[in-house]
Amino acid sequence: MVKLDLVRSYNAALVQTQSLVAVFVGATSGIGRATLYALAKVHGEHTKNNGQGNGQGNGQSNAQSLRAYVVGRKRAAVEAIISECERLCPAGRFVFVQAHDLSLLEEVDRVCADITRMEHDEAAAEAEAETAGGGAPARVDLLCMSQGDFTFEPRKDTTEGLEFRISLLYYSRMKFAVNLLPLLRASSLPAHIISVFGAGKEGQLDVDDLLLRSGGHFSMASMRSHVVYMTTFFMEYLAAQNPGHLSLVHVFPGLIMTEAFQNLGVPAWARLLWSLLAPVTSWFTTPVAECGERMLFLASPQRFPARGSGQASGDMDPPRVSSASAGAGAKPGASNPIDIATGSDGILGSGAYAVGSDGETVRNEQAYEKHRAQGVGEKLVAHTLKAFEDIKASKVFTG
Ligand SMILES: NC(=O)c1ccc[n+]([C@@H]2O[C@H](COP(=O)([O-])OP(=O)(O)OC[C@H]3O[C@@H](n4cnc5c(N)ncnc54)[C@H](OP(=O)(O)O)[C@@H]3O)[C@@H](O)[C@H]2O)c1
Repeated sequence: MVKLDLVRSYNAALVQTQSLVAVFVGATSGIGRATLYALAKVHGEHTKNNGQGNGQGNGQSNAQSLRAYVVGRKRAAVEAIISECERLCPAGRFVFVQAHDLSLLEEVDRVCADITRMEHDEAAAEAEAETAGGGAPARVDLLCMSQGDFTFEPRKDTTEGLEFRISLLYYSRMKFAVNLLPLLRASSLPAHIISVFGAGKEGQLDVDDLLLRSGGHFSMASMRSHVVYMTTFFMEYLAAQNPGHLSLVHVFPGLIMTEAFQNLGVPAWARLLWSLLAPVTSWFTTPVAECGERMLFLASPQRFPARGSGQASGDMDPPRVSSASAGAGAKPGASNPIDIATGSDGILGSGAYAVGSDGETVRNEQAYEKHRAQGVGEKLVAHTLKAFEDIKASKVFTG
């Protein structure tokens, strides 16, 4: 378990290192919102730009700016969240980005185009005003995605031919990453992509029915397993394609009592049960605010470097190590290689990471070895890129 004080020190180091541009998708509630608040809070406390003089935290202050794009469906909800962010970080700039149904890739494309245009305008205005962070290129340093729909309904396809929950958890998230690559590659950190779902929860994988279309294949368990495998392989692909530029983390946050459990798609009996159990569950679940801090920690470049960034061993192909030996031990900035996480492919600092609720990396080696030997990763990546292409070209994927 990565200790909370270590998480906090890494988070403070992150905001003090440089000005940050972040994009949050799924931050209108739950874990995404907690991560956004964690960023606003640590920035407000640890940089000079908090509008109240020096930070209240560890006394180290830098004039770094923060700009966050908050993508959401409900304007009023996002505006309330932005008000809270501005209270936590008065000098931060928080921008609402209107979205509709993000299980549709066409909508993801539209939202990414909006973010790209807005960020170019913001960077140009910042340069002109010569404020903190001015002169830095338009970019995205952090992309945090937690959109999801925790409903127990049967399989439901979007008009684009993707199952809507699988799309929200996988296709839509990877499409955000691909579309925003030009901005992400412009980060000097490198850029961090965090996808909150179910790392380490692999089960069965039906390579011939990735969208679980065949009768009886779809269930919450099979859907989760497919999303986890696909996320791992696609993140490894993006890390390999963008050495030195991208660090990608897929995380299982643990049981966090968010609005997801009161979603109207959850059966009434289950909602009632969760409410009644709340006093008990609070004993063994991570508080949502702490979860937000732990999600932000995944953007630590010391702990989760990009592939080949030189922090692991200086080589493009650093040595394989056991996941057990890759704990987080020292303070940020320490050059001890034990601080660097092991990637989901078993390679130290390989740029794509699967992380559990305790902040440590998780690996289901047996499951992946079999699939790697059979070239399943390449097949999943090709399937995903084909889905992106077909939907762009003809608005539907039938593959
Ligand atoms: N909470 C847990 O214990 C837990 C455990 C393991 C994994 N997870 C995973 O972690 C992620 C975040 O969980 P959470 O508890 O924070 O969930 P949450 O509170 O329900 O938040 C889900 C977010 O997704 C957005 N969203 C849902 N459907 C959308 C759509 N069609 N288009 C655009 N946005 C949409 C919601 O926006 P609106 O506000 O507009 O509805 C909200 O911002 C989920 O993927 C969940 O499966 C959670």
